[in-house]
Amino acid sequence: MDKIIKLGFLGCGNVGGGVWKLLSGFAKDIDHRTGLKFEVKRALVRDLTKKRDIDFPAGVLTDNVEDLLGDPEISIVLEFLGGEKPACDWIKEALRRGKTVVTANKVAFALHWPELQKAAEESGAGLYYEAAVCGAIPIIHTLEASLQSNAISYIYGIVNGTTNYILTRMSREGAEYSAVLADAQRLGLAEPDPSSDVEGLDAAYKLSILASLAFHGRVPFEHVYVEGITSIQAEDILCGQELGYTLKLLAIAKRDGLKVETRVHPTFIPDKHPLASVSDAFNAVFLKGHACDEMMFMGRGAGDLPTASAIVSDLLRAAAAEKHAYPTFNNDPHPAIPYENNTDWQTAFYVRMLAVDKPGVLSHVAQTFACFGVSIAVMQQKGAMSDGRVTLVFITHKANEKAMRQALATIDPSFATVESVLRVEE
Ligand code: HSE
Repeated sequence: MDKIIKLGFLGCGNVGGGVWKLLSGFAKDIDHRTGLKFEVKRALVRDLTKKRDIDFPAGVLTDNVEDLLGDPEISIVLEFLGGEKPACDWIKEALRRGKTVVTANKVAFALHWPELQKAAEESGAGLYYEAAVCGAIPIIHTLEASLQSNAISYIYGIVNGTTNYILTRMSREGAEYSAVLADAQRLGLAEPDPSSDVEGLDAAYKLSILASLAFHGRVPFEHVYVEGITSIQAEDILCGQELGYTLKLLAIAKRDGLKVETRVHPTFIPDKHPLASVSDAFNAVFLKGHACDEMMFMGRGAGDLPTASAIVSDLLRAAAAEKHAYPTFNNDPHPAIPYENNTDWQTAFYVRMLAVDKPGVLSHVAQTFACFGVSIAVMQQKGAMSDGRVTLVFITHKANEKAMRQALATIDPSFATVESVLRVEE
């Protein structure tokens, strides 16, 4: 008789429920394709009395983590709790005890990857995390394995579905951020506490993982520059649209020799860029390797079954592995660790100002930009406000981040006030 692999679930909410559904509904196909059979022996939940969609067999649910971690029959633990604590401690403990862990926990990898991997390597347990970045999109395995023959120079990602949904609706409807957020929350498309998504942290965790894999060196989360979408105004989206740009919350990682820049911020991209068409809650990753050239992966970054798709695929790889593999971070010909964290990156800028409509104002702005090496690519003057001031919109050529900030701080506010600054990537 085939061996049945016994599983433990740490948590059983939306994603855990999706994994349960996929494992049970697809069990015959999985068995047919792989010869593997699974049984969820224990599922840790906070509240044993809560009513659930899934009819768990008696004895599966427990509120005591030791029932999982201490059970020698459970060889693979699937972690769905998310967040740093207590999930990271439990993942590490499971690994120490030789249990393979499959997780969707981006925070664990962004903040504690080295110690988790050390625990796994010491016990020989597997550590699988495809679902931690972009849900169903198989970008982790792609970077770990399928693109090994490439030096990757950049990755641009739309890696947060909530913010992509909000920006898509703001762009389509000309609506303001707070109205769209409230509606997204009402529809269950944004969390009741959306801060990690809308402030860009969720994307920054994911970027730290993607950049580490792409550049074969650990890129710590603390190095990622983060700006969210909370102060985006409908007027700026419209001004950008008029100039042929779409606004996205982009996670950007670029490598130039040993310099790496990682940043998450709202970014205008040309309407014709492949990422511009990635709308609603979809995620996408666009990258360039020296051999493969440019490529894009698109799919669902969240949701019970899309996330379960990645988790169950990891589970099948884990269960079939004779020996588990770990990212090495040293398969680069250059001594690439540690990278120099480049915080003075080059990018183009979109700037909206309100300016007094009198001689010399434009020349003051242009001269100030010129003093800091910022060259103007496009300039538009728009209709007057009731106080007589006019809107000036600039797109610059590429400039250094620090020089641009100094230039903007030097503009005389009696001539023009800077209302919005956004970055532009071609
Ligand atoms: N909250 C994330 C998003 C999904 O909106 O994309 C989980 O990482």
